[in-house]
Amino acid sequence: WGPYGHAIVADIAQDRLTPEAAKAVQALLALEGHQTLDQVASWPDTIGHVPKKKGGLPQTLVWHYVDTDVANPAYERERDCADGNCVVEKLPELEKQLADRSATPQQRLDALKWVVHLVGDLHQPLHAAERDHDKGGNAIRLSYYGETENGHINLHALWDEGVLDRQASLVVGPHYTIDFTKARAEANQLASTITADETTYWVADLSGGDLYHAVVDWTDESHSLARSIAYGALPETKAADIRDAYTSIAWPVIQLRLQQAGVRLAAVLNTALGKE
Ligand code: ADE
Ligand code: ZN
Ligand code: ZN
Repeated sequence: WGPYGHAIVADIAQDRLTPEAAKAVQALLALEGHQTLDQVASWPDTIGHVPKKKGGLPQTLVWHYVDTDVANPAYERERDCADGNCVVEKLPELEKQLADRSATPQQRLDALKWVVHLVGDLHQPLHAAERDHDKGGNAIRLSYYGETENGHINLHALWDEGVLDRQASLVVGPHYTIDFTKARAEANQLASTITADETTYWVADLSGGDLYHAVVDWTDESHSLARSIAYGALPETKAADIRDAYTSIAWPVIQLRLQQAGVRLAAVLNTALGKE
Protein backbone atom coordinates (compact mmCIF):
# COMPACT_ATOMS: atom_id res chain seq x y z
CA TRP A 1 0.00 0.00 0.00
CA GLY A 2 0.89 3.64 -0.15
CA PRO A 3 1.20 5.84 2.94
CA TYR A 4 -2.58 6.29 3.34
CA GLY A 5 -3.29 2.56 3.09
CA HIS A 6 -0.73 1.77 5.77
CA ALA A 7 -1.98 4.57 8.05
CA ILE A 8 -5.59 3.37 7.67
CA VAL A 9 -4.67 -0.23 8.57
CA ALA A 10 -2.75 1.06 11.61
CA ASP A 11 -5.67 3.26 12.70
CA ILE A 12 -8.20 0.43 12.44
CA ALA A 13 -5.88 -1.78 14.52
CA GLN A 14 -5.07 0.92 17.10
CA ASP A 15 -8.74 1.10 18.19
CA ARG A 16 -8.92 -2.66 18.69
CA LEU A 17 -5.93 -3.15 20.95
CA THR A 18 -6.44 -4.59 24.41
CA PRO A 19 -5.41 -2.25 27.26
CA GLU A 20 -2.21 -4.31 27.83
CA ALA A 21 -1.23 -4.26 24.17
CA ALA A 22 -2.07 -0.55 23.86
CA LYS A 23 0.21 0.17 26.82
CA ALA A 24 3.07 -1.89 25.38
CA VAL A 25 2.65 -0.23 21.97
CA GLN A 26 2.65 3.21 23.57
CA ALA A 27 5.84 2.44 25.51
CA LEU A 28 7.67 1.21 22.41
CA LEU A 29 6.52 4.11 20.22
CA ALA A 30 7.59 6.58 22.92
CA LEU A 31 11.23 5.54 22.39
CA GLU A 32 11.16 7.64 19.22
CA GLY A 33 8.63 10.21 20.36
CA HIS A 34 5.65 8.70 18.55
CA GLN A 35 2.15 8.23 19.97
CA THR A 36 0.22 6.15 17.46
CA LEU A 37 0.86 3.27 15.07
CA ASP A 38 -0.07 5.27 11.97
CA GLN A 39 3.03 7.43 12.52
CA VAL A 40 5.39 4.49 11.94
CA ALA A 41 3.33 2.40 9.51
CA SER A 42 5.24 3.44 6.37
CA TRP A 43 8.73 3.47 7.91
CA PRO A 44 9.85 0.25 6.11
CA ASP A 45 9.08 1.92 2.77
CA THR A 46 11.08 5.03 3.65
CA ILE A 47 14.22 3.13 4.71
CA GLY A 48 13.90 0.64 1.85
CA HIS A 49 14.38 3.38 -0.69
CA VAL A 50 17.54 4.83 0.92
CA PRO A 51 20.90 3.40 -0.28
CA LYS A 52 22.89 1.27 2.16
CA LYS A 53 25.78 3.74 2.31
CA LYS A 54 23.31 6.42 3.40
CA GLY A 55 21.98 4.27 6.23
CA GLY A 56 19.07 2.69 4.36
CA LEU A 57 18.06 -0.96 4.14
CA PRO A 58 17.41 -1.65 0.42
CA GLN A 59 17.97 -5.37 1.03
CA THR A 60 14.65 -5.38 2.93
CA LEU A 61 12.54 -4.26 -0.07
CA VAL A 62 11.88 -7.92 -0.94
CA TRP A 63 10.34 -8.49 2.51
CA HIS A 64 7.22 -6.56 1.44
CA TYR A 65 5.82 -9.11 -1.02
CA VAL A 66 6.01 -12.60 -2.45
CA ASP A 67 5.97 -13.33 -6.16
CA THR A 68 3.69 -16.34 -6.56
CA ASP A 69 2.72 -16.68 -10.22
CA VAL A 70 -1.04 -16.19 -10.68
CA ALA A 71 -1.07 -19.42 -12.68
CA ASN A 72 -0.10 -21.36 -9.55
CA PRO A 73 -2.89 -22.30 -7.11
CA ALA A 74 -1.25 -21.02 -3.91
CA TYR A 75 1.97 -20.04 -2.11
CA GLU A 76 4.70 -22.68 -1.82
CA ARG A 77 7.76 -21.92 0.25
CA GLU A 78 10.27 -24.01 -1.75
CA ARG A 79 9.15 -22.53 -5.06
CA ASP A 80 8.28 -18.94 -4.11
CA CYS A 81 10.53 -18.02 -1.18
CA ALA A 82 13.36 -20.54 -0.93
CA ASP A 83 15.74 -18.00 0.69
CA GLY A 84 13.16 -16.90 3.28
CA ASN A 85 13.27 -13.26 2.12
CA CYS A 86 9.61 -12.58 1.43
CA VAL A 87 6.64 -11.34 3.41
CA VAL A 88 5.32 -14.80 4.30
CA GLU A 89 8.54 -15.94 5.96
CA LYS A 90 9.63 -12.56 7.41
CA LEU A 91 6.40 -11.50 9.11
CA PRO A 92 6.27 -14.43 11.59
CA GLU A 93 10.00 -13.91 12.34
CA LEU A 94 9.45 -10.23 13.10
CA GLU A 95 6.39 -10.99 15.23
CA LYS A 96 8.57 -13.31 17.34
CA GLN A 97 11.06 -10.45 17.85
CA LEU A 98 8.23 -8.15 18.86
CA ALA A 99 6.95 -10.68 21.39
CA ASP A 100 10.45 -11.43 22.75
CA ARG A 101 10.73 -9.80 26.18
CA SER A 102 14.52 -10.42 26.14
CA ALA A 103 15.06 -8.36 22.95
CA THR A 104 16.10 -4.71 23.40
CA PRO A 105 13.33 -2.08 23.30
CA GLN A 106 14.78 -0.68 20.05
CA GLN A 107 14.74 -4.16 18.45
CA ARG A 108 11.15 -4.61 19.56
CA LEU A 109 10.15 -1.17 18.26
CA ASP A 110 11.68 -1.93 14.85
CA ALA A 111 9.86 -5.28 14.86
CA LEU A 112 6.60 -3.48 15.73
CA LYS A 113 7.00 -1.14 12.77
CA TRP A 114 7.66 -4.11 10.48
CA VAL A 115 4.67 -6.09 11.74
CA VAL A 116 2.34 -3.10 11.28
CA HIS A 117 3.64 -2.61 7.76
CA LEU A 118 3.79 -6.21 6.58
CA VAL A 119 0.34 -7.26 7.82
CA GLY A 120 -0.84 -4.37 5.66
CA ASP A 121 1.20 -5.22 2.60
CA LEU A 122 0.30 -8.90 2.52
CA HIS A 123 -3.37 -7.91 2.22
CA GLN A 124 -2.69 -6.00 -1.00
CA PRO A 125 -3.56 -8.61 -3.64
CA LEU A 126 -0.64 -7.68 -5.90
CA HIS A 127 1.86 -8.15 -3.05
CA ALA A 128 1.17 -11.88 -3.26
CA ALA A 129 1.12 -12.43 -7.01
CA GLU A 130 2.74 -11.74 -10.33
CA ARG A 131 1.83 -12.53 -13.92
CA ASP A 132 4.46 -13.08 -16.62
CA HIS A 133 7.17 -11.77 -14.26
CA ASP A 134 5.52 -8.35 -14.12
CA LYS A 135 6.64 -7.72 -10.50
CA GLY A 136 3.16 -7.67 -9.04
CA GLY A 137 1.90 -5.41 -11.81
CA ASN A 138 4.75 -2.88 -11.52
CA ALA A 139 5.62 -3.56 -15.16
CA ILE A 140 2.05 -3.00 -16.39
CA ARG A 141 1.73 0.59 -17.57
CA LEU A 142 -1.75 2.10 -17.57
CA SER A 143 -3.40 5.44 -17.53
CA TYR A 144 -6.02 6.16 -14.90
CA TYR A 145 -8.91 8.42 -15.91
CA GLY A 146 -6.88 9.68 -18.81
CA GLU A 147 -3.46 11.17 -19.34
CA THR A 148 -4.44 14.64 -18.22
CA GLU A 149 -5.81 13.68 -14.83
CA ASN A 150 -3.25 11.18 -13.56
CA GLY A 151 -0.63 10.59 -16.24
CA HIS A 152 0.88 7.13 -16.43
CA ILE A 153 0.52 4.81 -13.50
CA ASN A 154 1.29 1.13 -13.23
CA LEU A 155 -1.12 -1.60 -12.16
CA HIS A 156 0.69 -2.16 -8.87
CA ALA A 157 0.59 1.52 -7.90
CA LEU A 158 -3.08 1.65 -8.86
CA TRP A 159 -3.75 -1.01 -6.19
CA ASP A 160 -1.28 0.38 -3.65
CA GLU A 161 -2.71 3.88 -3.75
CA GLY A 162 -4.20 5.09 -7.05
CA VAL A 163 -7.72 3.82 -6.43
CA LEU A 164 -7.81 4.54 -2.69
CA ASP A 165 -6.45 8.07 -2.99
CA ARG A 166 -8.90 8.92 -5.75
CA GLN A 167 -11.96 7.34 -4.08
CA ALA A 168 -11.22 8.94 -0.71
CA SER A 169 -9.82 12.25 -2.07
CA LEU A 170 -6.42 11.74 -0.42
CA VAL A 171 -3.27 13.53 -1.57
CA VAL A 172 0.25 12.36 -0.75
CA GLY A 173 2.85 15.12 -0.43
CA PRO A 174 6.63 14.86 -0.88
CA HIS A 175 8.48 12.24 1.20
CA TYR A 176 5.36 10.23 2.06
CA THR A 177 3.71 13.22 3.75
CA ILE A 178 0.06 12.55 4.50
CA ASP A 179 -2.82 14.23 6.29
CA PHE A 180 -3.26 11.97 9.34
CA THR A 181 -6.67 13.48 10.08
CA LYS A 182 -7.93 12.40 6.66
CA ALA A 183 -6.44 8.91 7.07
CA ARG A 184 -8.16 8.67 10.46
CA ALA A 185 -11.51 9.72 8.99
CA GLU A 186 -11.27 7.10 6.25
CA ALA A 187 -10.24 4.46 8.82
CA ASN A 188 -13.24 5.35 10.99
CA GLN A 189 -15.53 5.08 8.00
CA LEU A 190 -14.15 1.64 7.09
CA ALA A 191 -14.18 0.46 10.71
CA SER A 192 -17.80 1.52 11.21
CA THR A 193 -19.09 -1.12 8.80
CA ILE A 194 -17.13 -4.09 10.21
CA THR A 195 -19.53 -6.46 11.97
CA ALA A 196 -18.75 -8.64 14.99
CA ASP A 197 -19.28 -11.75 12.86
CA GLU A 198 -16.77 -10.51 10.31
CA THR A 199 -14.21 -9.85 13.03
CA THR A 200 -14.63 -13.36 14.42
CA TYR A 201 -14.40 -14.94 10.99
CA TRP A 202 -11.40 -12.88 9.88
CA VAL A 203 -9.25 -13.85 12.87
CA ALA A 204 -10.39 -17.49 13.05
CA ASP A 205 -7.12 -18.60 11.43
CA LEU A 206 -5.18 -17.31 14.42
CA SER A 207 -7.05 -19.38 16.99
CA GLY A 208 -4.64 -22.29 16.72
CA GLY A 209 -1.87 -19.94 17.83
CA ASP A 210 0.17 -20.49 14.67
CA LEU A 211 0.83 -17.14 13.00
CA TYR A 212 2.73 -18.73 10.12
CA HIS A 213 -0.29 -20.79 9.13
CA ALA A 214 -2.55 -17.71 9.26
CA VAL A 215 -0.08 -15.63 7.24
CA VAL A 216 -0.02 -18.28 4.50
CA ASP A 217 -3.83 -18.29 4.38
CA TRP A 218 -4.05 -14.48 4.22
CA THR A 219 -1.43 -14.43 1.48
CA ASP A 220 -3.36 -17.03 -0.48
CA GLU A 221 -6.49 -14.86 -0.17
CA SER A 222 -4.50 -12.00 -1.72
CA HIS A 223 -3.17 -14.24 -4.45
CA SER A 224 -6.67 -15.42 -5.27
CA LEU A 225 -8.00 -11.83 -5.42
CA ALA A 226 -5.09 -10.89 -7.68
CA ARG A 227 -6.05 -13.64 -10.09
CA SER A 228 -9.81 -13.07 -10.05
CA ILE A 229 -9.94 -9.27 -9.71
CA ALA A 230 -6.69 -7.32 -10.09
CA TYR A 231 -5.65 -9.26 -13.20
CA GLY A 232 -9.00 -10.92 -13.92
CA ALA A 233 -10.96 -7.70 -14.41
CA LEU A 234 -8.17 -5.90 -16.27
CA PRO A 235 -8.83 -5.04 -19.92
CA GLU A 236 -6.47 -6.89 -22.25
CA THR A 237 -5.57 -3.76 -24.21
CA LYS A 238 -1.99 -2.62 -23.69
CA ALA A 239 -1.64 0.62 -21.69
CA ALA A 240 -5.42 0.66 -21.20
CA ASP A 241 -7.12 3.74 -19.83
CA ILE A 242 -8.62 2.55 -16.57
CA ARG A 243 -11.86 4.21 -15.45
CA ASP A 244 -15.10 3.46 -13.58
CA ALA A 245 -15.59 -0.07 -14.92
CA TYR A 246 -12.40 -1.29 -13.20
CA THR A 247 -12.49 1.14 -10.25
CA SER A 248 -15.97 -0.05 -9.25
CA ILE A 249 -14.67 -3.63 -9.05
CA ALA A 250 -11.33 -2.85 -7.37
CA TRP A 251 -12.52 -0.36 -4.74
CA PRO A 252 -14.74 -2.74 -2.71
CA VAL A 253 -11.90 -5.28 -2.68
CA ILE A 254 -9.42 -2.64 -1.51
CA GLN A 255 -11.79 -1.54 1.27
CA LEU A 256 -12.26 -5.14 2.40
CA ARG A 257 -8.51 -5.83 2.44
CA LEU A 258 -7.80 -2.68 4.47
CA GLN A 259 -10.52 -3.68 6.96
CA GLN A 260 -9.24 -7.25 7.25
CA ALA A 261 -5.64 -6.09 7.61
CA GLY A 262 -6.62 -3.71 10.44
CA VAL A 263 -8.65 -6.31 12.34
CA ARG A 264 -5.97 -8.97 11.92
CA LEU A 265 -3.13 -6.60 12.83
CA ALA A 266 -4.91 -5.83 16.11
CA ALA A 267 -5.26 -9.55 16.83
CA VAL A 268 -1.57 -10.16 16.07
CA LEU A 269 -0.47 -7.28 18.31
CA ASN A 270 -2.84 -8.31 21.10
CA THR A 271 -1.27 -11.77 21.13
CA ALA A 272 2.35 -10.57 20.83
CA LEU A 273 1.99 -7.83 23.45
CA GLY A 274 -0.65 -9.27 25.78
CA LYS A 275 0.06 -10.37 29.34
CA GLU A 276 3.40 -12.14 29.86
N1 ADE B 1 8.54 -6.23 -6.80
C1 ADE B 1 8.59 -7.43 -7.40
N2 ADE B 1 7.44 -8.12 -7.20
C2 ADE B 1 6.66 -7.34 -6.43
C3 ADE B 1 5.38 -7.50 -5.86
N3 ADE B 1 4.66 -8.62 -6.05
N4 ADE B 1 4.91 -6.51 -5.11
C4 ADE B 1 5.64 -5.40 -4.91
N5 ADE B 1 6.84 -5.18 -5.42
C5 ADE B 1 7.36 -6.15 -6.18
ZN1 ZN C 1 3.10 -2.19 -3.18
ZN1 ZN D 1 5.65 -1.97 1.73
